[in-house]
Amino acid sequence: MGTEETDDAPEPQAEELQVAQRTAPLGPLIAISVVASVLGVVFGIAIDWFPIAASTQADQVDTFYDVLIAASVPVFVGVTAIVLYSAYRFRVRPGEEHMDGPPIHGNTRLEIIWTAIPSLMMLALCVYAVIELQDAEKAPAAAAQELNVRVVGEQFTWTFYYPPAAKGGKEIVSSELYLPEGRSVRFRVQTKDVLHDFWVPAFRWKIDAVPGITTTYRVTPNRLGDYPVVCAELCGLGHAVMRQATHVVPPDAFTAWLDKKTKGGAAEGAAAAGGGGGSGGEQAAGADGEPVFAANGCGGCHTLKAAGTGGTIGPDLDDTLASQDAAMIKASIVEPEQKLTKGYGANIMPPNFGETLSPEEIDALVKYLQESTKG
Ligand code: CUA
Repeated sequence: MGTEETDDAPEPQAEELQVAQRTAPLGPLIAISVVASVLGVVFGIAIDWFPIAASTQADQVDTFYDVLIAASVPVFVGVTAIVLYSAYRFRVRPGEEHMDGPPIHGNTRLEIIWTAIPSLMMLALCVYAVIELQDAEKAPAAAAQELNVRVVGEQFTWTFYYPPAAKGGKEIVSSELYLPEGRSVRFRVQTKDVLHDFWVPAFRWKIDAVPGITTTYRVTPNRLGDYPVVCAELCGLGHAVMRQATHVVPPDAFTAWLDKKTKGGAAEGAAAAGGGGGSGGEQAAGADGEPVFAANGCGGCHTLKAAGTGGTIGPDLDDTLASQDAAMIKASIVEPEQKLTKGYGANIMPPNFGETLSPEEIDALVKYLQESTKG
C-alpha cells in the first residue's frame, strides 16, 4: 500500500509509512470536561425552560427535567471535549499526509467502562421515571374526592362536560374549563372527528383525543389562575386557533360556578319545554357579549374591529354581519352549516355553540355583534 504513488517526492521508506503512536496527557482533558460540565449543569438548571407550573404533576415533571439535565449535560460535554481535544492533539502534521495511523486494536477495559456507565445511568433514570409516573398517575384514596371531566375535541373547539348535579341528570356543558384548586381531576378525552391532543401546558400532561376510544389522565391543579388549553395535534385549518381557557379557582368559587351552570341548563330545558321557539331574542341580555366573544375564541377565526381581532379562517364579521338582523346572526352562531358565507367551506365553524353557550350568552353575543358591526 502506498508504494504505487507517483509523487515527485522520493518514496518514503517502509518504516516511515506509519505515524508513531502519540499519547496525550489526560489532565487538561479532564479539567476542561469538569469545568464545562459544571457550567452546563448550572445554566441548564438556572434557565427557566417551562411555562408556569400549575399542578402537582407539573412540579414532578419539572424536577425530573432538572435531573435529566444534570445527568445528560456531563455526558454531552465529556464526549464533545474528547472529540475536539483528540482532533487537535492527533491532527495530521506536515509531512504525514500520506502516512497511516498507528495500528491500534481496541481497548477492552475502556469499552467495558463506556458501555457500563451509560447503561447504569439509563437504568437508574428509567427506574426513577417509572416511580415518578406511577406516583403522578395515582388515584386519590377515595374516588369521590376526584372531579371527573369529559373533554370532547372537534374541529376546532373543545367542549367540557361535568357530571350532573343530581343522579340521572344531564351533564353540565361548558366551553371553558373551570377546575377547583387542590382537587384531583380525571379527564376522559374523546373526539367527534379527527385526532386532537388535549394539552394544558401549565399542567404538563397531554394526551391524544383518538376517534373511537377514550383516553384519560389526571392532574391536581395547585395554583390559581387562567391558563390556555391547547390542541397539540395538527387537525386541520383551524388547529392553531383551537385554544380555550382553563380557570383554576378556589373550591367554593368552583361550586358556585357549577351551581350557576346547572341552573342555566335547567332554565334552558324549561324554555325548550315551554315550546316558545325563537323567543330568546326578547330576553334582556343578562351578560355583556364582548367577554363571550373573547372567551370562546371567536376572534381566532373572525375579524371584528370592535374586539380588535383579525382572524381570517372564518368570514370578516364587520363585512358580513352589517346587513344581517338578530335572527340571522343567531342562526349563523347556533347552526353555522345552514347558510355558509360565500368562499368559506363547511365544517369549519364549531357546530355546538348552541349547546355550550347559555341562551343569555347567545343573546348577549348576538346583540354585541349586531351593535358593533352596524356602520
Ligand atoms: Cu385540534 Cu389541532
